[in-house]
Amino acid sequence: QTEISRVRNLEKIQMGKFEVEPWYFSPYPIDFVDSEMVYICEFCLCYFGDVTPFERHRTKCTLLHPPGNEIYRDRDISFFEIDGRRQRTWCRNLCLLSKLFLDHKTLYYDVDPFLFYCMCVRDDYGYHLVGYFSKEKESAEGYNVACILTLPQYQRKGFGKLLIDFSYLLSKREGKLGSPEKPLSDLGLLGYRAYWQEKIVDLLVELTEEGKHEANIEDLGEMTAMTTNDVLHTLQNLNMLRYNRAGHVIVLTNAVLQQREQQKAKEKVKGKRSIIAEKLIWKPPV
Ligand code: COA
Ligand code: NA
Repeated sequence: QTEISRVRNLEKIQMGKFEVEPWYFSPYPIDFVDSEMVYICEFCLCYFGDVTPFERHRTKCTLLHPPGNEIYRDRDISFFEIDGRRQRTWCRNLCLLSKLFLDHKTLYYDVDPFLFYCMCVRDDYGYHLVGYFSKEKESAEGYNVACILTLPQYQRKGFGKLLIDFSYLLSKREGKLGSPEKPLSDLGLLGYRAYWQEKIVDLLVELTEEGKHEANIEDLGEMTAMTTNDVLHTLQNLNMLRYNRAGHVIVLTNAVLQQREQQKAKEKVKGKRSIIAEKLIWKPPV
């Protein structure tokens, strides 16, 4: 664990077919500050300050996907589970890369206590890393996500929501409620708020359509694997809680319903996807 309070040190990185401008400092080798471009192998995540050694590496690197088990596949989207202890170098490289886009003061070199769930899109050339989240093997606080990232070249396309949804699907399989590690970044909070609202509203609509007009916060938590605290705050943010003598009631307001309908229409146009629970082939690690 290293204190990091320095300014952005890399000018540009190249990864696969993308060139990306880093957002924050990450402790790549010190002599990389002089490079116009840092080349990152999109499969093994090794890094090079010059194009020649990078190209030499690419002719030798045989990796075509993250070094773990593929536990989910739906069309061109796959998830791989990688154990930090077994794939120390790869996971450290991933942390180094993601630090470029995370404003944390600390970088975790100790990857052993974590599992990494990596989402890829597949084409003829391999499985391209889109984003990931890390998860403590044992979280005393009940966190189901430690770090979460969509690589900038893939942001605002709905992949963050897929990552978050996947993290809750794992929690469901574990029979647990989960919540992301705090504090969340500004973008993390935006992403989670959007996901939580959508999930809760869709669930309430579904229950209503099934003729169920009563639900409590605990039930909603059980059904989504969200903590009751996150359910409660989501309902409050949506202004959907009313209090009467009997306690509180959840009111699905027209304003909320209309907003969700508009959002759904947009998602349809954009062809946004969702996680299909049946496609997860996974048992909680023992
Ligand atoms: N501005 C405003 N709202 C945003 C936003 C932005 N830059 N990015 C995400 N959101 C909100 C929107 O409501 C968005 O839905 P919309 O695009 O339909 O409006 C919703 O979040 C989900 O967006 P999505 O495309 O699924 O997320 P993403 O793939 O861009 O990933 C993060 C979201 C948080 C993973 C991504 O921003 C990221 O990796 N950030 C850097 C790392 C980080 O801060 N991680 C959290 C650490 S705790
Ligand atoms: Na975090």
